[in-house]
Amino acid sequence: MEVESKSMLFTKKKRFSHSTILSTISLFSLFLILILFHAQPSPSFSPASKPGDSKLRNSVTFLPLKDTRFANTAMEGNTWFMSSLSDTFEENESEYLHFPSDASNGRLLCIKGNDIKDGTKNSYALAYPEGLPNSTTFLKGLAFLSDTFYDYGNLWHGLTAMMPFVGWSMKNGCAKPARLVLFHSGELRVREKMGLWIQNLMQANFGQVQVEEFEKGEGPYCFEKAVVMRHNVGKMGKKKKLQVSDLLRCKAREFCGINPNGRRREVNVRGEPSIRLTLLMRRGSRSFKNPTAVTAVFSRECVAVDGCTLKVVQSEDLDFCDQVRLMTNTDVLASPHGAQLTNMLFMDRNSSIMEFFPKGWLELAGIGQYAHHWMADQSGMTHRGAWWDPYADKECPEPNKQRECFLFYKDGRVGHNETYFAEWTRTVLKQVRTSKLEQDIESSHRDSNVCLC
Ligand SMILES: *[C@@H]1O[C@H](CO)[C@@H](O)[C@H](O)[C@H]1NC(C)=O
Ligand SMILES: *[C@@H]1O[C@H](CO)[C@@H](O)[C@H](O)[C@H]1NC(C)=O
Ligand SMILES: *[C@@H]1O[C@H](CO)[C@@H](O)[C@H](O)[C@H]1NC(C)=O
Ligand SMILES: *[C@@H]1O[C@H](CO)[C@@H](O)[C@H](O)[C@H]1NC(C)=O
Repeated sequence: MEVESKSMLFTKKKRFSHSTILSTISLFSLFLILILFHAQPSPSFSPASKPGDSKLRNSVTFLPLKDTRFANTAMEGNTWFMSSLSDTFEENESEYLHFPSDASNGRLLCIKGNDIKDGTKNSYALAYPEGLPNSTTFLKGLAFLSDTFYDYGNLWHGLTAMMPFVGWSMKNGCAKPARLVLFHSGELRVREKMGLWIQNLMQANFGQVQVEEFEKGEGPYCFEKAVVMRHNVGKMGKKKKLQVSDLLRCKAREFCGINPNGRRREVNVRGEPSIRLTLLMRRGSRSFKNPTAVTAVFSRECVAVDGCTLKVVQSEDLDFCDQVRLMTNTDVLASPHGAQLTNMLFMDRNSSIMEFFPKGWLELAGIGQYAHHWMADQSGMTHRGAWWDPYADKECPEPNKQRECFLFYKDGRVGHNETYFAEWTRTVLKQVRTSKLEQDIESSHRDSNVCLC
């Protein structure tokens, strides 16, 4: 059997340092009593009635990673990913699967297939360490396997998929994975499908981790240890989400060499608290139609508040650490709806968000439009409302076709209402000033730069 360790690191350049170690596993001549994986009543994993190496091998049954029988309830219960296996539940934690464990009856998780287009062509099995399938590639160390309904490119989607692993790690001695294995509906997602932002954030938190690409073809590959998440944040409780967010913020700042201690309580020569307002702009879809006019409104209101400073920044121009640095130095983040708002994670706790939508979202987007309200909630920020543009340059031609109309409006641009923006900004700046004045020394100490892991 081959023991493999690759390094395909979170750096732009691929580095390969293959080292291949041959190891032999001693085979027990003991009779093993095989018990059917009791946690789930799958008929598909048949128990081997007699022990012995070849019987063990033959007892390994591969099932499709994506089970289309559950296509209509893809994210419910056991989901359609590894559908025969049941999750482990712990109160206020994301539900997960882990291998080997009591629940897996000591068996390891094995994966066959590297299909990036059809999850039903990839498969999984459980195997005893003594009876791994023929020509298995044994992957050493801890692997985090993720299946998501979204993707790993978008900041918010990527974060939603990765948070449960951070939470699990915190509860398990800050364990660091040797590799990540990414799936979307059972289809493999290689490293380049993972956005740089989330790659950097994972590197900040776990150090260098490779994204498994199953380069040797179909496999099988068996994992020494594996944790599987398939519900995104799932049942993670609010307090745990805050803890995970605190850790990620702390790790990202450390990674980028930023030490924000004491910044929260900065005051100017007149004793007024500093209030840093950042207008985070987008290009193209959901950008402001008239950024100059919007900037003018924010600028006027900021000038009117002693201690306020305004920064206007183009989000696409920032690398990961630029984003972390900017957010560390922002108290009020004003930005159109979009993934760049996920950066609120890096602001100090209790900082504020102002969000802007183009026409069509309020009427047609459903609950998805509240993603950054939830994001604020889970990262400990205060979402200070949103403005929905009531006007569009062009109305949807067939207003009763909801889906078509949403797509028609979705990436439209955002107008402005000077009166509304001015009043809203004035109110928010006043609230932030009050809360900064009331803030006690104790609470700012809690923000100190000590990472939990
Ligand atoms: C889970 O969260 C609830 C609500 O915050 C809390 O009351 C409960 O004590 C938590 N349980 C555990 C085991 O942490
Ligand atoms: C495993 O490989 C050996 C040698 O290549 C072969 O003789 C045997 O039939 C294979 N067993 C299975 C179950 O494929
Ligand atoms: C956040 O704000 C709330 C309410 O305004 C306050 O009770 C809490 O102490 C603040 N937390 C921090 C860390 O400043
Ligand atoms: C702009 O906002 C103000 C204050 O909410 C509102 O009274 C006014 O009708 C709005 N103007 C337009 C053109 O929608």
